[in-house]
Amino acid sequence: MSKIREGAVANICFTLFVLALIGLTACEKYSYDPPVYEPPEAGEVVYYGQQIAPLFEEYNCTGCHGGGISPDLRPANSFKELTEGGYINLDEPEESGVVKNCIDYEHGEEWATDDVWLLLDWIYLGASDN
Ligand code: HEC
Repeated sequence: MSKIREGAVANICFTLFVLALIGLTACEKYSYDPPVYEPPEAGEVVYYGQQIAPLFEEYNCTGCHGGGISPDLRPANSFKELTEGGYINLDEPEESGVVKNCIDYEHGEEWATDDVWLLLDWIYLGASDN
């Protein structure tokens, strides 16, 4: 290879190296931060009957938990079943049995993040039968 061509190859390599560096730093700037759950402010209200109970039907949990397999998650029964069955953990809402099953993709339909957060909000707010 001639001296001139070696120089040209070195130049191209150097340019590519600089472009790669710019690319890497640019990536860092636009890196994706997944949304983080924030517990609700005191005073917010989530209604079990209107907002939570229908979700167990919407995600077809009732397909199995419709009276046969415990807990019974049909709208008329789910509140009692979940609270009395020990599936709600008021001290550590994220540890609640019902929440774990809603985010477990191997257990029935996986809930959309917004719906899981609504369920968590309801538990954080005291899990009332409202
Ligand atoms: C295909 C049937 C099926 C579907 C759909 C289903 N489950 Fe279950 N679920 C079961 C069975 C079987 C058990 C008992 C054995 C076990 O824990 O896996 C159970 C157990 C549970 C328990 C009790 C777990 C424990 O630790 O005792 C909860 C809470 C629960 N399911 C919630 C849900 C929710 C919420 C949904 C909807 C997202 C759902 N399940 C969808 C079959 C199902």
